[in-house]
Amino acid sequence: MKSAESNKELKRLVGVAAAGLVRDGMVCGIGTGSTVVFFIEELGRRVKEDKLRLTGVPTSFQSKLLCRKYNIPTLEIQDCAELDLAVDGADEVDPDLNAIKGGGAAHTREKVVAAMAREFVLIIDQSKRVERLGTAFPVPVEVIPSALQFVTARLRALGGEPELRMGVRKDGPVITDNGGMVLDVRFDPRTDLRRIDQELHVLPGVVETGLFYDLAKRALVGRADGMTVET
Ligand code: 5RP
Repeated sequence: MKSAESNKELKRLVGVAAAGLVRDGMVCGIGTGSTVVFFIEELGRRVKEDKLRLTGVPTSFQSKLLCRKYNIPTLEIQDCAELDLAVDGADEVDPDLNAIKGGGAAHTREKVVAAMAREFVLIIDQSKRVERLGTAFPVPVEVIPSALQFVTARLRALGGEPELRMGVRKDGPVITDNGGMVLDVRFDPRTDLRRIDQELHVLPGVVETGLFYDLAKRALVGRADGMTVET
């Protein structure tokens, strides 16, 4: 099997398994991305065939549309303060289950949803496991447009190499569901990213970083020889 195809199968494996964690009556945060698509599809199947009752709280317009397609009732994030469960993909996950997210530019809403969930579960294929965050994937930082130059300069002063994320046609920047822009920032691999995260949270104009520290309690990891559950 080709690599992209096998990754897809691993994503399907963990997406379907995560849907099995959803119990009748739950209010469940629903992340964004190609792994989450399989989670939503399986929830849709359970809603139709098993008469599962759940309320989804999607983290993006894309996931909300998919919920609608599969007749999964939804609530807006701003109408919730607490969730039973939240399930989401990730771009990198370290051995302590800290993660980099934001490959789909949805990390701000994803972090709010992860923080309000009683349990936050990551669903990833094995290629996302790293010993140290920031190894292969840059840190996404959402900023309000008027702070773009200011935050770019401060990120450089912190040792980062920020790059404005452009849309697929490269004719303009990606605009998030919050009206923000995303800087993808590469740091030297030895950088203490937890400290950088704290510094960024007090910088005016920064909306949110894609660094998810101390949020996930469990990760379902799709591997060539099956799925492992990491805690
Ligand atoms: C979106 C995200 C995604 O969860 C992350 O990019 C992983 O995506 P995929 O499941 O497509 O590999 O953080 O903001």
